[in-house]
Amino acid sequence: MKAVLCKEYGPAEKLVVEEVPTPSVDAHSVLIDVKAAGINFPDTLIIENKYQFKPPLPFIPGTEVAGVVAAVGEKVSHIKVGDKVMGFAFVGGYAQQMVVPGASCFPMPETFSFAEAAAFTMIYGTSYYALKQRGQLKAGESLLVLGASGGVGMAAVELGKLMGATVIAAGGNNEKLAICKQHGADHIVNYNDDDWKDQVKQLTGGNGADVIYDAVGGEYTKTALRCINWGGRLLIIGFASGDIPQLAANLTLLKSSSVVGVFWGASLTKEAEANQENFKELFKWSMEGKIKPHVCATYPLEQVADAMNLLLQRKAVGKVVLTTD
Ligand SMILES: NC(=O)c1ccc[n+]([C@@H]2O[C@H](COP(=O)([O-])OP(=O)(O)OC[C@H]3O[C@@H](n4cnc5c(N)ncnc54)[C@H](OP(=O)(O)O)[C@@H]3O)[C@@H](O)[C@H]2O)c1
Repeated sequence: MKAVLCKEYGPAEKLVVEEVPTPSVDAHSVLIDVKAAGINFPDTLIIENKYQFKPPLPFIPGTEVAGVVAAVGEKVSHIKVGDKVMGFAFVGGYAQQMVVPGASCFPMPETFSFAEAAAFTMIYGTSYYALKQRGQLKAGESLLVLGASGGVGMAAVELGKLMGATVIAAGGNNEKLAICKQHGADHIVNYNDDDWKDQVKQLTGGNGADVIYDAVGGEYTKTALRCINWGGRLLIIGFASGDIPQLAANLTLLKSSSVVGVFWGASLTKEAEANQENFKELFKWSMEGKIKPHVCATYPLEQVADAMNLLLQRKAVGKVVLTTD
């Protein structure tokens, strides 16, 4: 099969596309003929050896795919050969075939294309775990999303709205923010405006946001902590700006607020039951057409560098996906 290989750490231009052996299926796993593979920001970090998860070289990047089942291990009963599925594993997705654990392979919602299905698992899994388990977001509260036009951010906007919050989408590009409105944002704030903190306060009746979903980091986090409500929760999702902020602890004291870490990948094993419940709800909502990933571009495997750079150059909205056909 054809696959994208990371043979040496570095930028996406270092990736190569080569013929490699088809991975083998054990009793508990599923082999998928991949039609589409989602690109996520962490993939861009893993290939540079800048992520907490470090697969040994050489490896095939990519955590999530959608396709057709080619083989099933004897202990897997909920999936059969020929089913359209979506699957998740820590590496191996940017390829014509991928093996995933049976427990991480689900029937594809009929409402989704392969590209949409391949873009689903990471962003909704992360954002629902963040808002529900970590943020304890309640109906009637306000939610500020930093990095709202990105993959996880746009999922947080949609889910926040479904959970009954008033959602403020924040980002650095008004055209991209307009798409967040189509996905449910009540308000948009451009953090290139010097007064964006005051805009958030104004939009929340002077209180500040109850929950802040921060996928960007850096100075944006520091400013966000100055427009959080009493008892608010600042969710640390990621540092797309490249800058891990140092926060002033007195600001959390003044608002009795919490800074809450979110590591969805690790929660899949440490809080497996909660995640299974989350996915039941997420699949239900996807079948009902209430949530759907926004795929802004698809590329063939050979153009993996262009696809990853679209994300890194902040030209993507929602998700970028690789296709194998
Ligand atoms: N904690 C977890 O479990 C978990 C899971 C998945 C992802 N993540 C992390 O979440 C973050 C976002 O991932 P993603 O896949 O959604 O990425 P993405 O699709 O590339 O979105 C990132 C967003 O951040 C903004 N951004 C990028 N560079 C920026 C900069 N220099 N300054 C300000 N804003 C910038 C962009 O918004 P604009 O260009 O519109 O301003 C973009 O929409 C990453 O750090 C990733 O590692 C964490």
